[in-house]
Amino acid sequence: MTYQETARRKAEALRGATGVKILALETSCDETAAAVIEDGRKILSNVVFSQIDLHELYGGVVPEIASRAHMEACDRVVDQALREAGLELAEIDALAVTKGPGLVGALLTGVNCMKGLAFAAGKPLVGVNHIEGHVSANFLSHPDLEPPFLCLVVSGGHSHLVEVREYGEYRLLGQTMDDAAGEAFDKAARVLGLPYPGGPRIDALAEEGNPEAFQLPKPKTEGRFDYSFSGLKTAFINLVHGIEQRGEPLPRADLAACFRRAVCTELTEKARAVISDHRSVVRKGSDLRSQISGHDDGDREIRFAMAGGVSANRELRRMAAKMCETLGAKLYMPEIHLCTDNGAMIGSAAYYRLMRGELAELSLNAEPALRLVNGDQ
Ligand code: KG4
Ligand code: ZN
Repeated sequence: MTYQETARRKAEALRGATGVKILALETSCDETAAAVIEDGRKILSNVVFSQIDLHELYGGVVPEIASRAHMEACDRVVDQALREAGLELAEIDALAVTKGPGLVGALLTGVNCMKGLAFAAGKPLVGVNHIEGHVSANFLSHPDLEPPFLCLVVSGGHSHLVEVREYGEYRLLGQTMDDAAGEAFDKAARVLGLPYPGGPRIDALAEEGNPEAFQLPKPKTEGRFDYSFSGLKTAFINLVHGIEQRGEPLPRADLAACFRRAVCTELTEKARAVISDHRSVVRKGSDLRSQISGHDDGDREIRFAMAGGVSANRELRRMAAKMCETLGAKLYMPEIHLCTDNGAMIGSAAYYRLMRGELAELSLNAEPALRLVNGDQ
């Protein structure tokens, strides 16, 4: 029997089974991360080896250094994930790996590592979209969360508003026209002289600053649910340079607080528009009979989730909580350690693909520009 036939048979036997254990590997950027997940929801182990120390010197991720570091760390991290879960490879039902988007060399190390392991052990393999992984981090933190729900995906490379219609099925509602929110945070941190990665550093510094100390422009976009952060970023850089040129000391905490407030206000305002709009569509769609009987679908609770590295931002979490309370929507956010890159979220996303029989072939390749939905950037 070929590897593919063996894998398919094993995957078919897993449908409807409980206690399905997936070993997942994530290497799309600067974290080598592996995890064991049970039934898509339960974390048995979650090991994250960060390369930040290696890249900090250069002020950002150096792709070549990232690939080499992944290659050195893959085996160890996978072994550790198995050990911490108290399992042997033989007890794992399926394997999963991030296939994109991300740095091509970094992705390839993970893809090749897991393809080799899958072939050698004769186990089914699932190729996972990294962004879908971020969305799925919510399934780990919230056992009750099921599609459909709305989701704001904010990471170093993405700022998307999507509707999660079903497991693995998305509708794009809005996206950034230029920089991603995480990218904007990282660039703003750089002009403040903060080390990479800048987002968490700005976030921490901003806690001590006055968010009203400076005025920053409000981004303009054509689409009601779209984002733009490049104008805001340029205005911030000009503001900082102006202070420096006057020879004044930089009020770093105030500047960080103003920038964070501006980005988070923009993120939540568009999310608010999407939630309000969605609610009115649900109301219009609810039929007369259910309205008369009092079971109006229009009163159905709207679920709003956040995902990706930037969803760890304290101000964004506070603003989203307030917004959802006002709108009567239910808010879901991954725990902080599951917002940034990890293997657990890849294992969760893989489970639902595996249950639908979506297996990778041994020709699986890295897809650096993979999208979540057709039409997104
Ligand atoms: O999701 P992620 O770990 O990797 C990507 O898929 O891109 O996101 C990393 C991004 C970086 O830009 C980082 O600065 C940002 O998320 N980030 C934050 C915070 N924690 C991470 N941005 C703002 N506030 C934070 N607390
Ligand atoms: Zn990520």
